[in-house]
Amino acid sequence: MSEIEDLKRDNAQYLWHPMAHPQAMKKTRPDIIARGEGCWVWDVDGHKMLDGVAGLWSSNLGHSCKPVRDAIVAQLDELPFFNTFRGTTHPRAIELSTQLVELMRPDGVAAVMFSNGGSDAVESALKLARQYHKLRGDKDRSKFIALRQGYHGVHFGGMSVNGNTNFRRAYEPLLPGCFHIDSPWLYRNAYTQDEAELGQIVAAQLEREIVFQGPDTVAAFIAEPIQGAGGVIVPPANFWPLVRAVCDKHGVLLIADEVVTGFGRGGAMFGTRLWGVNADLWCLAKGISSGYVPLGATAIGQKVVDVFDHDSSGAGQIAHGYTYSAHPVAATAAIATLKILVEQDIPAQVARVGAPFQRRLRGLVQRHAFVGDVRGLGLMLGIEMVADQTTRAPLPRTSEIPALVARAAYRRGLMVRVSGPNLILSPPLVITPAELEYLCDTLEAAFDEVAGTR
Ligand SMILES: Cc1ncc(COP(=O)(O)O)c(C=O)c1O
Repeated sequence: MSEIEDLKRDNAQYLWHPMAHPQAMKKTRPDIIARGEGCWVWDVDGHKMLDGVAGLWSSNLGHSCKPVRDAIVAQLDELPFFNTFRGTTHPRAIELSTQLVELMRPDGVAAVMFSNGGSDAVESALKLARQYHKLRGDKDRSKFIALRQGYHGVHFGGMSVNGNTNFRRAYEPLLPGCFHIDSPWLYRNAYTQDEAELGQIVAAQLEREIVFQGPDTVAAFIAEPIQGAGGVIVPPANFWPLVRAVCDKHGVLLIADEVVTGFGRGGAMFGTRLWGVNADLWCLAKGISSGYVPLGATAIGQKVVDVFDHDSSGAGQIAHGYTYSAHPVAATAAIATLKILVEQDIPAQVARVGAPFQRRLRGLVQRHAFVGDVRGLGLMLGIEMVADQTTRAPLPRTSEIPALVARAAYRRGLMVRVSGPNLILSPPLVITPAELEYLCDTLEAAFDEVAGTR
């Protein structure tokens, strides 16, 4: 048996994959991605593909960014690991926290806490929100409100605020005190097709939910500036400013889950900047280290920092953190990543190349009756497939169309991701216009292929 066949067999037998049934992985041949260079990856059979998903919204600088790679190697020689608990720290942790706070000072950020990924960053934000209120003497403020279709990772806190029950059912009961309001989703909502009106309606829903729960029981509202895994749902422009006002009115903290939108993906350095608001806590991961080494961070606004700074009771002690918080190799990868993002103004580049990319793929709606909506911003784009374009009837859950399109794209040299009825595209942020054209050509051909064989 060849080495490749051994790999495939062992994968099926021994590796349980996130978000997959272990049995399915025994039946389905996995895509084993073996090599990456720039925006391209090769599978174990040597098949070359454009990476349309940036690993998983992560490899923003591509797969062979030499400055990041060199920084990692140098750090491995200097200090592969040390912790940052209590009185201990190391230079990379200090440098990264300084640089991140400087980068986010215009957003009102004053400090940062590190972790290992997005779910951790969310968990830290939820816990810090509760502790903030306790420190202020608002001891009953423990509840969280979130959006349907939201995704906030898989820890018990994040899972409980997730707005998609698929990620929760197997693990219930959840954290008590988590409530959901509608997503400000223009394509699918019960209210209106007017963007500004929708923004107002959902912000009013948030206020009603806060009042219903009792404002003195609500700790925070958490949302993604653009809902990613839920199908790339871009909110109306007025939504976040209205949400900010509602939160302020009722003393509720605003947590921006920027795990996907942070560091340029939407065409601004942070998603909150797209909407012209400051959050109180920001959850960061993925693009922070361009996927080279796992890293999560929770950025903390001045208002929250002030409360911890002025605590005289001792209750401001952070009883939270991870062995690998600010791991030196991850921190160094992030420092090198940030330098490139800022020096080359990658977010502006994303805004430039993202606009024609979005425009072109929106054409899929005219081209195929089974494409209902194409939406996104910058270099994040979702293609929702439907049973009926006119009535917007959702695709049956058993429909194989999204998977067929993804397989056709794969065969033609493009890696895309299926999430429910959606195809999600999130290529590396350094993708060139020519590579984006290749992406669009290949994807259109994959759709045409599936349309022809239906
Ligand atoms: C918005 C958002 N929050 C949190 C997470 C969880 O991040 P991780 O998978 O790194 O734990 C994700 C992952 O995709 C995400 O998209």
